[in-house]
Amino acid sequence: MPEGLFVTFEGGEGAGKSTQIARLAEKLRQDGYQVVVTREPGGSPGAEAVRHVLLSGAAEPFGSSMEAILFAAARSDHVENVIKPALQTGAIVLCDRFMDSSRVYQGITGALDKDFMARLERVTVNGTIPDLTIILDVPPEEGLRRANARRGDATADRFEKEKIETHKLRRMGFLDIAEREPQRCRVVDATGDSDTVFQEILALTNRALENKTLGEKHV
Ligand code: TYD
Repeated sequence: MPEGLFVTFEGGEGAGKSTQIARLAEKLRQDGYQVVVTREPGGSPGAEAVRHVLLSGAAEPFGSSMEAILFAAARSDHVENVIKPALQTGAIVLCDRFMDSSRVYQGITGALDKDFMARLERVTVNGTIPDLTIILDVPPEEGLRRANARRGDATADRFEKEKIETHKLRRMGFLDIAEREPQRCRVVDATGDSDTVFQEILALTNRALENKTLGEKHV
C-alpha cells in the first residue's frame, strides 16, 4: 500500500499559513504529486459542523476542557475520514493546524492538565502523527496586525480576540514543542517576505519527501 506524506502547519494568528499552503500545493501538483489541502478545526463534514460551535465562542462558557474535547471530536472525524484515507492513496496531505494547536491553545493557554491532554491526543490522532510540522513563527503584534488587516470589518473569532499576553504564551508554546520534538518540527521565521518563507517551506517539504522515499519516518 502506498504511503503518503503528512505535513502540518502551525503558528499563531496571521502567520500566513493558508497563503503558504496554497502556494506549496500548487508547486507540488506541478511536480506531479497528488496533494490534499485541508484544515482544522474542520476538514471533514462532521468536523466542519463542530467548527462553528468552537470559533463562534458558543462552547466557551462551558470551559476549556469542553472545548478541548470538541476539538478532539472534530480531529478524530477528520483523521479517520479525510487524512488517513488520503495518506493511504499515497497523497501529500497539507493540513492547516493539527494536534499542536490543541496542545498550545487548549493545553497551555486553556490551562488543562498535561496528562489529560496527552491521553486525549493519543486517542484522537490514533497513530496519524505528522511526518513534518512547519511552525510559522511571527511576533504576535505583527501576526495580529496582519490578521486584522485580512479580516477587514468582520469580527475577530473567539481565539483571535484574546489579549496579547495570551498570544505571546502561545508563541512560546509552539517554540517549546519544536525544541522538544526536533525530529518532527521545523520553525520558519515568517516575518520575512513571502517568497523567502515559501522557498524555505518548499525545501523542508522536499527533504521530507526524500526521507520518506528512503523509508524513514521523520525529516
Ligand atoms: P481559523 O480561522 O481556522 O484560522 P487561523 O488558523 O488562520 O487562525 O481559526 C482557527 C482557530 O482555532 C485559531 O484561533 C486556533 C484555534 N484552534 C484551537 O484553539 N485548537 C485547535 O486544536 C485548533 C485546530 C485550532
